[in-house]
Amino acid sequence: MNSNFNPLSAEELVSRINKIPRIRLAQLPTALEYAPNISKELNINLYIKRDDCTALAFGGNKTRHLEFIMAKTLSGEYDCILTGAASQSNFCRQAVAAANKLNLDSYLVLMHGIKGKLMQGNFLLYNILGANVEVVDGENLEEIPKHLYRKYSQLIKEGRKPLLIYGGFGKEDTTLAGISYANAMAEIDLQMKEQNFMADHLFVTAANMTQAGCELGAKILNWPTRIQGISPVYWEMNIKKDIARICNEGAKLLDVNIKFNHEMINHDNTYVGEKYGATTKAGIEAMKLLANKESIILDPVYTSKGFAALIDYVQKGIIKKGDNVIFIYTGGSPAVFAYNEDINNPK
Ligand SMILES: Cc1ncc(COP(=O)(O)O)c(C=O)c1O
Repeated sequence: MNSNFNPLSAEELVSRINKIPRIRLAQLPTALEYAPNISKELNINLYIKRDDCTALAFGGNKTRHLEFIMAKTLSGEYDCILTGAASQSNFCRQAVAAANKLNLDSYLVLMHGIKGKLMQGNFLLYNILGANVEVVDGENLEEIPKHLYRKYSQLIKEGRKPLLIYGGFGKEDTTLAGISYANAMAEIDLQMKEQNFMADHLFVTAANMTQAGCELGAKILNWPTRIQGISPVYWEMNIKKDIARICNEGAKLLDVNIKFNHEMINHDNTYVGEKYGATTKAGIEAMKLLANKESIILDPVYTSKGFAALIDYVQKGIIKKGDNVIFIYTGGSPAVFAYNEDINNPK
């Protein structure tokens, strides 16, 4: 860390974040819940940050992101949103839900992926929420921006005024999403004080921006905590560099003098399994264990793999007996309904 950096208190961090334009979509703070049964099982002290309970059409980490990303709609210059991801996208579900609240139409361009047009889980919820959905062939998420440009031109020709939301592929969107998770870290800072502990480890299932926000917030607040990101996807891009970039952009926006580089980022992609969107046996076992011990239902694509990693880190001794561990439950549970076969018959 830079020698001339002065850590901020949670209150100071929040007051800087509050200067950034935002619309309120989430019910915050979410709980930081001690999980006694699974703690006993794993011989650690496990706290779960319930970001699955942000509200907004089943909620999740993206509700926090969208509070900042969608603040642009306050200008009144947009009549709809356009975004895209995989067909069972939690992000798209929350974006459409936010658009409805703001009286905007929604257009989604979705990669077919492994669940395609299956009218279940998040795809069913786009239908109920009333989004305009186009499914394109393929499953490489890095092709999404290309499809978004095409759809954007089409909407403009039709006279629409879309807010194009790049999500994880946009420089500005990722920075704003990162800020929203620095805010979550300020929440956790106060909750740890109330509950009288400091985390040794924080686990988050993250493609890029959510982890970046956790890293940024934890450094600004000067936690000694080891932040560990668990990837749901194999990227072609250098994701640690991308996470460090988002942290640096966020630090600039918050006017804090911290510099990040990729070597500071712990990001593990060895729990993805076959590919993005496919379940893993360890993930399904982890999902069932947490459900059995704490009645918390993880999602099959992201958090079950993150939680499987947490269990494996305990077994490998990276997380030690008695350590205080926070697991950020980033949401996504509606996807379980699209994965009934995979959950019933894990391979
Ligand atoms: C449930 C869940 N967890 C984690 C993530 C990863 O978040 P990010 O892309 O911000 O790193 C996502 C992204 O879609 C998600 O839906």
